[in-house]
Amino acid sequence: MGKKEFRTLDLFAGVGGIRLGFEKAGFKTIFANDFNKTCKETYDLNFDEPKLTVKDIWKLDIKDIPKFDILLGGFPCQSFSIAGYRRGFNEARGNLFFRIAEILEERKPQAFLLENVKNLKGHDKGKTFKIIEKTLKELGYHTKSKVLNSMTHGNIPQNRERIFIIGFLDKKKAEVFDFPNEIPLTKNFKEFTANEAEDKYYYNEKPLYEKIKNDINSEETVYQWRRKYVRVNKKGVVPTLTANMGLGGHNVPIIKNHKGIRKLTPKETFLLQGFPENFKLPDIASGALYHQAGNSVTVPVIQRIAENMKIVLEGGRINPQELLN
Ligand SMILES: C[S@@+](CC[C@H](N)C(=O)[O-])C[C@H]1O[C@@H](n2cnc3c(N)ncnc32)[C@H](O)[C@@H]1O
Repeated sequence: MGKKEFRTLDLFAGVGGIRLGFEKAGFKTIFANDFNKTCKETYDLNFDEPKLTVKDIWKLDIKDIPKFDILLGGFPCQSFSIAGYRRGFNEARGNLFFRIAEILEERKPQAFLLENVKNLKGHDKGKTFKIIEKTLKELGYHTKSKVLNSMTHGNIPQNRERIFIIGFLDKKKAEVFDFPNEIPLTKNFKEFTANEAEDKYYYNEKPLYEKIKNDINSEETVYQWRRKYVRVNKKGVVPTLTANMGLGGHNVPIIKNHKGIRKLTPKETFLLQGFPENFKLPDIASGALYHQAGNSVTVPVIQRIAENMKIVLEGGRINPQELLN
């Protein structure tokens, strides 16, 4: 007899990084939503049904969402992030977390996974996070949260810390759930970068070249131009890939090779989020693709969380030792 298939709802889906991780772990996506039309180009190129429904989540009729078991959402972090507009929950009515809460309240899925920037926990002296936890508890969920880094938990050479919040209606399931352990980082960024790239990615002969050429001198290191200086990233790891890479290509990590100095290509930023080589990118502006990659998630980290959720949903327990091997 086959095991039950768990159905997931992919909210704030972007280009589908969370979906990819959950599908690799054996979950079935039944509905996907995001209000960004450009994301749809990438999303629909890579996934069969369901395609991305482009709609503002506030305008989505909760009753129209098909039956699902697990809610997934890397909800936007602006209102929680120091880099954002600092208002946090003062803007409560418009806050997307509360839309998630409304969907949980109306549909009561048995579990959820939420993802956000690490500083969600510290925002407004911890008050924001307390409200989130309290709201989820009042809705009947038992939660656990943890900050995981792609380089320590996904074997992907990107220094990316994100907070993950899981919840189960069943208290026992929440108790036995555990986040994945650390695993060794065996991969270097060079395994994710190509020997050749189009000329447009090179700084050679561009105005910035003179300012950076002396500092960017090793092929073994990843660099970043920080407006006035070159930042060096050690240990063969790339810095956190962020959505603002899309703004004129600034902040895109820089590497050196036999041909010169260049920024990573959009494809490389997707690979450094753990997307598979066969993930297709549409023919749209590089800026849009960088934005999408930076906004997404590290797929293997999501997959490992999803695998642990699946064990628990199927009534099992997580044995940390077994997962290490
Ligand atoms: C941090 S990104 C999540 C990306 C996703 N996890 C991925 O793998 O690509 C947040 C997403 O929320 C979407 N979003 C923001 N406000 C929204 C709204 N009101 N309704 C629907 N989607 C929204 C954005 O377009 C963006 O793609």
